[in-house]
Amino acid sequence: MHKLPANRPLVAASILSADFGRMAEECRDVLSRGADLLHIDVMDGHFVPNLTMGVDMVRGLRRHFPDVYLDCHLMVERPDLFVDMFAAAGADNFTFHLEVSRPMRAMGVEPAALIDRIHALGMHAGMAVNPPTPPDGLAPLLAKLDLALVMSVNPGRSGQAFIPEVLEKVRWLKARVGPETRLEIDGGINPKTVGAAVGAGVEVLVTASALFGAADRGAVIRDLHAAKG
Ligand code: DX5
Ligand code: ZN
Repeated sequence: MHKLPANRPLVAASILSADFGRMAEECRDVLSRGADLLHIDVMDGHFVPNLTMGVDMVRGLRRHFPDVYLDCHLMVERPDLFVDMFAAAGADNFTFHLEVSRPMRAMGVEPAALIDRIHALGMHAGMAVNPPTPPDGLAPLLAKLDLALVMSVNPGRSGQAFIPEVLEKVRWLKARVGPETRLEIDGGINPKTVGAAVGAGVEVLVTASALFGAADRGAVIRDLHAAKG
């Protein structure tokens, strides 16, 4: 498992807005311009109404980028079915959603047990909450988590507008997490919205459309790195 770079805030380039036909080149470009890690959005068509990419993408990226931190965000109903595959493919972090606790429990899998499995496989463990979901359900698990991800759009696609109301949850989490747990935000992050997110306590900034769609990607990364609350 790779360590996260020491600087804060970190810029996580979400490859969902990259040109999929030139993926390695696109990743090399944003990494050379200062992106700290790659964020990989996995969707199953059930938890969210879209299909994106899966474990083979992670394996391919790991082959091309042996030293880059790969942050995998699973928007799927049964993340427990995929955890071994992602570990074998070279994922550094495995994030699943609080909202799938119920379907997983119905199959006999407790979120706490899944976190333990993620760790046993040598990955960091993250949990995410969608905009309408209260964060309380994360409270008993926070001590085990390396990452808590607050979604600032409803998951499913890139290019949506930032929902500022979720910052309340970031502040709530910030007051409860220890120094080992990073707060990540995902959706609608750009040089205009980033200040509020960092001010609320976010340390890992996911960005897709604002980064890959920019004429000057380096400038976007510099702006995000420079953000102050
Ligand atoms: C949304 C994904 C995000 C998405 C962010 O479902 O989890 O990572 O790619 O896209 P932007 O930065 O364009 O809002
Ligand atoms: Zn994501």
